[in-house]
Amino acid sequence: MKRIVVQPRIRACYGHPWIYRNEIVHADEAVEPGEIVDIFTSNGVFLGRGYYNPGSKISLRILTRRYENVGKDFLVNRFKKALSLRKPLLYDSNACRVVFSEADDFPGLIVDLFDRWIVVQINTLGVERLRSLVIDALLEVFEPQGIFEKSDASSRKKEGLDVEEGWIYGTGPELLLFELNGLKFYCDTRGQKTGFYLDQRWNAKVFGQFATGKVLDAFSYTGNFGIHALACGADHVTFLDYSERALEIAKENLKLNGLSLEKAEFIQSNAFDYLKSVQGSVYYDAISLDPPSLAKSSRSLDSALRGYKELNLRAMKLLRNDGKLLSSSCTRIVTRERFEDVLSSAAKDTKTDVIFIYHGGQPPDHPVKQLVPETFYLKSYLMIVHRE
Ligand SMILES: C[S@@+](CC[C@H](N)C(=O)[O-])C[C@H]1O[C@@H](n2cnc3c(N)ncnc32)[C@H](O)[C@@H]1O
Repeated sequence: MKRIVVQPRIRACYGHPWIYRNEIVHADEAVEPGEIVDIFTSNGVFLGRGYYNPGSKISLRILTRRYENVGKDFLVNRFKKALSLRKPLLYDSNACRVVFSEADDFPGLIVDLFDRWIVVQINTLGVERLRSLVIDALLEVFEPQGIFEKSDASSRKKEGLDVEEGWIYGTGPELLLFELNGLKFYCDTRGQKTGFYLDQRWNAKVFGQFATGKVLDAFSYTGNFGIHALACGADHVTFLDYSERALEIAKENLKLNGLSLEKAEFIQSNAFDYLKSVQGSVYYDAISLDPPSLAKSSRSLDSALRGYKELNLRAMKLLRNDGKLLSSSCTRIVTRERFEDVLSSAAKDTKTDVIFIYHGGQPPDHPVKQLVPETFYLKSYLMIVHRE
């Protein structure tokens, strides 16, 4: 096995799987990009076995801390272990994220299961080189009818890789039917990310249980939050998203669950503009706000915080007294504390007394690894917005 020598006392010595280019002391010239290597510190400590990409700022990612062969058996064991953690989620659902990259000790790989189908994202050159082993191991563990690759993540560009999208094993429909929390949904293979936001499985369920009356599902994508609300008895849901396709699929998702389209409206608009334009003329009993990530790096932190403030302030003003607001943030660099500050500040400016009744985050199929803080990103709060 070829070797790469890195500095001592770097984060990777204490459990983190990433090693940056500037932490590398010496790399054997014969190492090929994407190749598996043994990693040692310059004082001779074995750190683990991982893959190397000199073209990426994160040049090494550790796959194992042992001297073990990264072959099919290794992958099968990793996938089986990840699946066993998720088993309790499958009692009222047949979908879950089975591999969540670093959080499942498999940097660069995301695998979502939707009933008989699998959607994979290969985000690094190292995993790209393991592609056929990954497929073989997935076939052995899950015996799927089809594997769809949806490798369109921006991280692929940083790794020097092109977008890959299509069936790489077997086949299936464009819309993959699956069940979540006892409801039926389509995963859109032509949609966003892996086709469905499984990370909101519990927050959407909680919202559904508390949302009554007239509801706004802002940044609805294919209707996850609003459909949970309608299924639990809400009178009417406005689905708001700027993706026309997502709203079309939201309609199909309603039909799948026997929910009347008369209890729904679909507004294709910029949510910031919509929330501003209806101020004072429309009121809701419950609102879900689930915007996309508002900042990729700490350089845009302030503008992200301003964005959250604007959305939450406007949503609070649109709620009837004692209305419910479920506010989510998937921006990794926005911490829980900062997000709570934004919510408190919006409450103060709207002269409302906000009562937090649920603090949500990532469900068990999107685990957070304590030693890898980058695995934490999703914050969700359900509030009662009270005004005297
Ligand atoms: C995080 S996803 C929402 C996921 C959804 N709540 C769910 O649980 O499936 C963000 C959504 O916001 C939409 N979007 C992004 N920017 C928007 C904007 N300015 N106005 C309206 N929709 C927007 C995207 O099309 C995407 O569907």
